[in-house]
Amino acid sequence: MTQVVEYHPATDPGAFSAQILGRELWDHQLAFARSKARYRVVCAGRQVGKSTTLSAVALFEATTRNNVTVLLVSAGEVASRRLLEECTSLALNSPMLSGSVLDDSKSILTLSNGSRIISVPASSRQIRGWPVDVLILDEAGFIDTEIWRAAEPAIIARPGSRVIMVSTPWGGLDHFFRDLWQRGMDRPDEHLESWHWPSTVSPLVDAALLERIQERESPEYFRREFLAEWTDEAGAYFTEAEIMSAVADYELIAPEDLVLPWIGDTYDQRYTVAAGIDWGFSRDANALTMVSVLEDYGQNQNRHGDNLIFYIPWLEARHNWNYADFIDRVVQSGKTYRYEILASEVNGVGAYPTQDLAATLQRQHVAGWVSKVWTDAKRKQSGFSKIKGLLQRGRLILPNHPELLKQLRALEFQQLDSGSTRIAVPERAGHDDLALSFMQSVSMVFPDFARRTIDTNLRLSLDRERPDPDDFVQTRNGLLVPRSPRPVAYMRNFAGWPEGAERGNTQW
Ligand SMILES: Nc1ncnc2c1ncn2[C@@H]1O[C@H](COP(=O)(O)OP(=O)(O)OP(=O)(O)O)[C@@H](O)[C@H]1O
Ligand SMILES: [Mg+2]
Repeated sequence: MTQVVEYHPATDPGAFSAQILGRELWDHQLAFARSKARYRVVCAGRQVGKSTTLSAVALFEATTRNNVTVLLVSAGEVASRRLLEECTSLALNSPMLSGSVLDDSKSILTLSNGSRIISVPASSRQIRGWPVDVLILDEAGFIDTEIWRAAEPAIIARPGSRVIMVSTPWGGLDHFFRDLWQRGMDRPDEHLESWHWPSTVSPLVDAALLERIQERESPEYFRREFLAEWTDEAGAYFTEAEIMSAVADYELIAPEDLVLPWIGDTYDQRYTVAAGIDWGFSRDANALTMVSVLEDYGQNQNRHGDNLIFYIPWLEARHNWNYADFIDRVVQSGKTYRYEILASEVNGVGAYPTQDLAATLQRQHVAGWVSKVWTDAKRKQSGFSKIKGLLQRGRLILPNHPELLKQLRALEFQQLDSGSTRIAVPERAGHDDLALSFMQSVSMVFPDFARRTIDTNLRLSLDRERPDPDDFVQTRNGLLVPRSPRPVAYMRNFAGWPEGAERGNTQW
């Protein structure tokens, strides 16, 4: 005699789906629907019944408790509408739920018990502001982490609230969907549980058809869409050798320690730099990195001919400083070092401080064009690959600054299927402020213009401060750097507006 376990539709999603919605869930759908974990994450292939499962669970939650809000967030507009259509048609076909009403905007389904299922695209401002009992993210891998951060707090204060995420494998190592899914696979507990549903778990998906698709599609596409496997390559962006062979134990010279001749009523600002600024928010510091052309007194001419080498004369990151103080510090630093251009990020928190910086430079008559930059994947890709290229060619020297080196080592890349590369310090690895401000400054330099000319040679011969051979330090790849280095005097054309940047957007 087989033992029959009694499931009741009021307490069991499986029984609810079968008896109220008229749809028996498949085994893999049942395991997920019955899980008690507060966060449930599914990485799935095509056609395995994701939408069906999400609709059934949304209706179960909304039906079995009064006055709850289920928020469905989809990556796009169309997907969001389709998912609510699916819920609505399941509800209207059920005699018990036929009193449900879809609003005119087709984004809110209200049940007769006062519960609501709201469906919005991830771009919507409606993500904020609902008290949410069940938060469901469809195609979560395509939803920005910022949206997730905006949506998640809505559930934390609600007793018994739950989160569900389903997606095909998409998103880098530090994307919330991938991170949570991996954790739920590695260490499932009552808080978090994950599932892996390749398309083959569906009893409807036919193996012969899959084989035919596999023959005609690229292996990456097939692995991602049907086997539900991550296909990107990922790893450390810089090799240890690239970083360490470029490090020299030279002195970083703070702006206030830079020795300049006094001419008339001001300093002769002979040392020009390109600067990059990364504005911090809460955990992250505000960071400034200067890059310039190294005065090596011709010591590396055997290796580089007339090409000059870039280096970092000064960098600093300040935690717990407010923007105004940091801006004052940056402006003050521009009274000894001379800014040719300052690249300042305007996305994230940067818009206001960038404006304030430009205004303060102007007010205090400190030179420096402020280039408002938007840090996206493309800018990071081109900025960091420029650093990589310069390091490989021995055209860039790094200071022995533990935090900068740590951040450069922590940078990871992910090759995305779209052909682009994502570069970031994963959240677990700490800060990225110095690495980013360094990237901003390097993206402003023109290596082809950093050349020794007759003009610079003439200045060199006039320069009486040439250090002793003992006062040079060396990188592992054999470059010589004065222990207390200076930029090449009066050199200015090595930095400027990067290609593609809006020229003249802010100035002083
Ligand atoms: N429990 C079930 N019983 C019978 N049919 C089901 C069940 N679950 C899903 N299906 C059917 O399987 C097909 C795929 O389901 P669904 O659309 O939910 O999958 P999906 O993973 O969202 O697909 P896609 O990858 O295209 O978004 C549909 O025809 C659906 O009706
Ligand atoms: Mg679907």
